[in-house]
Amino acid sequence: MSKKDEDFIENLKLTRDISSEFAVAEKIIRTSAKGRKYLDITLTDRTGQIDGRMFPSDVESVHDSINLGSVCNVIGRISEFPSGSGKFNMVINVIDELKEGEYLIEDFVMASENNSDDLVLEIGKAIKEMKDVQLKRLLKAFFCDNNFTKQFYNAPAAVVHHHNYMGGLLDHTVEILKICRTMCKIFPDLNQDLLFCGVLLHDIGKIKTYTYGTGPIGFSEEGDLLDHVYISCEMVKEKMISLETPEILSNQILHMILSHHGYIIYGWGSSVDPKTPEALTLHYADNMDAKVKEAFQRL
Ligand SMILES: [Fe+2]
Ligand SMILES: [Fe+2]
Repeated sequence: MSKKDEDFIENLKLTRDISSEFAVAEKIIRTSAKGRKYLDITLTDRTGQIDGRMFPSDVESVHDSINLGSVCNVIGRISEFPSGSGKFNMVINVIDELKEGEYLIEDFVMASENNSDDLVLEIGKAIKEMKDVQLKRLLKAFFCDNNFTKQFYNAPAAVVHHHNYMGGLLDHTVEILKICRTMCKIFPDLNQDLLFCGVLLHDIGKIKTYTYGTGPIGFSEEGDLLDHVYISCEMVKEKMISLETPEILSNQILHMILSHHGYIIYGWGSSVDPKTPEALTLHYADNMDAKVKEAFQRL
């Protein structure tokens, strides 16, 4: 049975009670300012995401009973918090996992609204104008491989936060490519070939990090344990070895991937601080794109 129109997240703009189906994208146990433990649950459907809070007496066992990526029937109350902010979230009273067949999967799969052909052309253009033969060969090894592109063009870029929909990784990558094109005009000393190569490869590990396609987006076992920064590096390094990419280039590209989440001190997953102009540009472009996109997705 399909969700009722008024129960889709994009339409939750009034304080009221609700009983409807939502996919669980994130669950975290937090402690309130008064020292009370509660569950912070991010709920999604194909129209967006909403923050939910639940205050059960047995927080740990309720937390463990909820499966990430599952679709649940949720009973609770929608309210505006903080009052007058225009931001709506949900206080959850009951959350029960549904079985396959008890919900319509199309209600929970979000897809890009962009024309993917245009985005694929942007990637093709960036590779075509590349002058560095080694980097061009490396990129072609990925982007001329149908098996890779089929996954890359469909994958989401996240479970929550930003670009968390089918085609999100392609949107995210091309948006950063456009930001970096502008940066190369402002700073002509940037090595465009190196920067574009880093942009196109920095998140490729996300094709293995998430489960998607037939159900709500979740983490694969590999993604949960290794995460996309390591997986991207591993995929790129493997290809570099088979193509005998010179070490000096190999180190530059791997450095960009390893540092694209910014300084280690941020705790965002980088294993090394960005140290080159290209690595810094990629990090800030990546971060800006993610943050601006997230802000629009939350509107
Ligand atoms: Fe990333
Ligand atoms: Fe990224």
